[in-house]
This record gives sequence, C-alpha cells and structure tokens, in this order.
Amino acid sequence: MELLEGVRSRKSIRAFKSEPVPEKVIMDVLETATRAPSGVNLQPWEFFVVRGAALEDLKRTNVEEYRLGKKPSPEIPLGDTKGGAPVLEGVFRERSVALAKQIFMLLGISKGDKKAQSEYMERMMQFYGAPAVIIIVIDRILAGLWPILDIGFVAQNIALGAQHYGLGTCVMRAIVDYPEQIRKIVKVPESKRIIVGIAIGYPDWDHPVNRLTTDRESIGNIVHFVQ
Ligand SMILES: Cc1cc2nc3c(=O)[nH]c(=O)nc-3n(C[C@H](O)[C@H](O)[C@H](O)COP(=O)(O)O)c2cc1C
Repeated sequence: MELLEGVRSRKSIRAFKSEPVPEKVIMDVLETATRAPSGVNLQPWEFFVVRGAALEDLKRTNVEEYRLGKKPSPEIPLGDTKGGAPVLEGVFRERSVALAKQIFMLLGISKGDKKAQSEYMERMMQFYGAPAVIIIVIDRILAGLWPILDIGFVAQNIALGAQHYGLGTCVMRAIVDYPEQIRKIVKVPESKRIIVGIAIGYPDWDHPVNRLTTDRESIGNIVHFVQ
C-alpha cells in the first residue's frame, strides 16, 4: 500500500471477524512498527499479544468490572472524570459527543436507548470481537511523559502497518481500563506500566460501524505559519 494512501485510509475498526491472525503476521507488524522514532532511541515499548483463552478471560473480567460499575483506573492519569470518562469542555467535548452520535447513528441506537448503548459499551469492553489485542507497556524506570509519546509513535506504526496485511486496528483505552485484571491474566510484571491496548484482526466490512469515517478539523484552523 502506498504510504500516503495508508495514512489516509487508516481508521478505527469496531467490528472484527473471529478469524485468527497468524503469529508471524503479528510479529511482522510489530517488527516494522518498532522502526518508530523514540527519544534518545529509548525504544521504551514492550508488547503483550493476548489471544485465545487469555483473551476470553480478559474480555469476561472487563465486562464484569464494567457491569459492576467499577471506576476505570488506567495507569495513565485520566484527569478529571465523570462516570469513568474524562471531563471535556469546549471543542473537545463537541468532538467526543459527535463521535458517539456518529457511532450510535450507524448502529441505529437512539439517544434514549440506554439498553442498546450499554450493549455497545459491553462490545467495546470485549474489544469489538478482535481475535487478538496488543498491550503496550513501558518499564516503570522510565518516569516522565516523553516515553509515553514514543508509545504513540509505535502504536500509530502498528495501526498503519497492519493495513498492509488486510488487518484493522482500534487503539483502545478500554483495553487497559482495569490494569489489575491484566496483570493477573496476562501476567504483566509490576515493574512494567501498562499504557495502551490495540485491538487487531480482520475487519468485518459488512458491519455498519465500520462505515464510520470520523471528521477532522479544517487544516486552515489549526496550522499557524510563522516567519
Ligand atoms: C489513546 C486512544 C484511546 C482510544 N480508546 C478508544 C476506546 O477505548 N474505544 C474506542 O472505541 N475507540 C478508542 N479510540 C479510537 C478513537 O476514538 C479514534 O481514533 C478517533 O475517534 C478517530 O477516529 P479514527 O481512528 O477512525 O480516525 C482511542 C484512540 C486513541 C488514540
């Protein structure tokens, strides 16, 4: 796939086929992704690829925590939260509301239909049926925010590179909302900080949610040339 086309066509996938992704393909995606830049070439990333029974356990416990109304406690601070979601204002709130509206519209979920909304949330807590999730961690020795920026680069490379193999991805905070369960099931050592998860698999292109192409701010509004 041509580079710019890959960047433009990448989008979050929220319905996957159950077909497994060969280990070799995941290894190739990850190996290519680690060409990402990182401050002083720290390469702070480490990956736990969760599949099979461990993934089923993770999905089950995630849904259980969600149903119990347990407050998400990801290992990156969320800032102010309300009902587990970061409190957003102004244009940021507008964008997040627009996203939820677009998703619910595609799925035919109306504003007042709390049951359908909660079912959607449960699908999210089960990583939209992806046959694998990649959990990215960093060593706790790496304090400060710069190494987390590096994780963003490698995550984007995963999302871009996956497309070459016909795969789709969704970078997801929902995967890492309950880290204590991940530590138990995936056996992530205490010395590692869990940063973010990526659902990966073959997209179910027939599913309406995958028709979503999110909006972007007009480039003229966010670029400032200075000379
Ligand atoms: C750090 C991060 C966390 C995210 N967490 C979730 C999530 O928990 N659930 C979800 O459905 N999408 C999640 N997303 C996907 C965003 O909603 C998506 O990237 C955004 O709406 C732009 O859409 P696009 O990826 O299709 O271009 C996350 C993305 C990022 C970068």
